Amino acid sequence: MATILVKNIKKLVGLANPSAPLRGKELSRLPAIDNAYLLIEDAEIAGYGPMEELHAGIKASTELDASGRFILPAWCDSHTHLVFAASREEEFVDKLKGLSYAEIAARGGGILNSARKLQAASEDELFLSAWKRLEELSRWGTAAVEIKSGYGLTVEAELKMLRVIKKLKERSSLSIKATFLGAHTFPPEYKEDHEGYIRLIIHEMLPVIAKEKLADYVDVFCEKGFFSPEETETICRAGMQYGLKPKIHANQLNLSGGVETGIKLNAVSVDHLETMSDDTISMLAASNTIGTMLPTAAFFLRMPFQPARQMIDAGCAVALATDFNPGSSPSGNMNLLIAMSCIQMKMLPEEAINAATVNGAFAMDLQHETGSIAAGKKANFILTQPIPSLAYIPYAFGNNLVENVMIKGEWISGK
Ligand code: NIG
Ligand code: FE
Repeated sequence: MATILVKNIKKLVGLANPSAPLRGKELSRLPAIDNAYLLIEDAEIAGYGPMEELHAGIKASTELDASGRFILPAWCDSHTHLVFAASREEEFVDKLKGLSYAEIAARGGGILNSARKLQAASEDELFLSAWKRLEELSRWGTAAVEIKSGYGLTVEAELKMLRVIKKLKERSSLSIKATFLGAHTFPPEYKEDHEGYIRLIIHEMLPVIAKEKLADYVDVFCEKGFFSPEETETICRAGMQYGLKPKIHANQLNLSGGVETGIKLNAVSVDHLETMSDDTISMLAASNTIGTMLPTAAFFLRMPFQPARQMIDAGCAVALATDFNPGSSPSGNMNLLIAMSCIQMKMLPEEAINAATVNGAFAMDLQHETGSIAAGKKANFILTQPIPSLAYIPYAFGNNLVENVMIKGEWISGK
């Protein structure tokens, strides 16, 4: 039995195992122990406590001295589109020159640009590029990630994307959840035939996805010009018949009705939330649905940030995720996301860390295996560089303070 002992940890953070996502004031509580040890046995957390309570008799196969360093739970990124064929920096430059999102979309850019490229890419090419992205994310401290389809938009290409995600799931040490987002946009040939595309999703895509167990969740981009709340409900209910729980793109550009639809369907999460009203915030606070904020997407598109303070103060259960994708958030760096959430949305460091760990785990139904430091959970955590305090993490934005990452008992950068 491989036993790893990490000693003299300046602060061991995130010692909780809540039975429900944290909400309101609970988000600012991040239990920690100063001068701590952490014991890992067979890839799981076996115990922890203050150094003075460490039994002299513990026999570890490896010991590490973490003096000056913090340990915190590894990041749980509950919303990404990290399988894609190519980056889109040419559109980025067009936008800098003044073209709007709508103008770029009208020129065949945006999601349709990614779809054309993905349709032309082989499964192996997609797997390899996504694998490299996953490796990079793990070096930055992410141990669990949700990945969506939605750049296929044909039966064949959506299934290809989901098969790539399945292979990533099987081969990666990260915990991965797959989401079917066939309803990302209407492909050009169905622009005037929404019912036709929705029929394709329900009758051609979903049955194969269910048969091959290619997805855990169903998602719809509920937005003006994309899918209406009624269409969103129809597609989600069809997915739910096959056991897929809804996670919905809601209220990115408008008060789209996506939040209300998500709550009505008891969605695991409603994601984006740049555009919220007092009413949608109170409804979300009174529901079991997690509000997942994607501030790097707001940043990249120069949109107003999500009203994190109002949502937390109203009692919402909030999570933070990167939305990693080539169009609106070409970065999967959770450390930057944490800094941005504190700087731009006035989240406290503890709130941001809880939202990006334990609540992110809940937003992927992975709360039993990761998201916090608790006995029996996977040994998934970040070892920081020597730092003076927890608040230093978001404060020193842009610095890479991650010294090493343990995922399921293995150090990413060797030790
Ligand atoms: O989550 N909002 C919809 N979908 C993606 C962006 C899609 C793209 O531009 O490729 C998002 O931001
Ligand atoms: Fe997204």
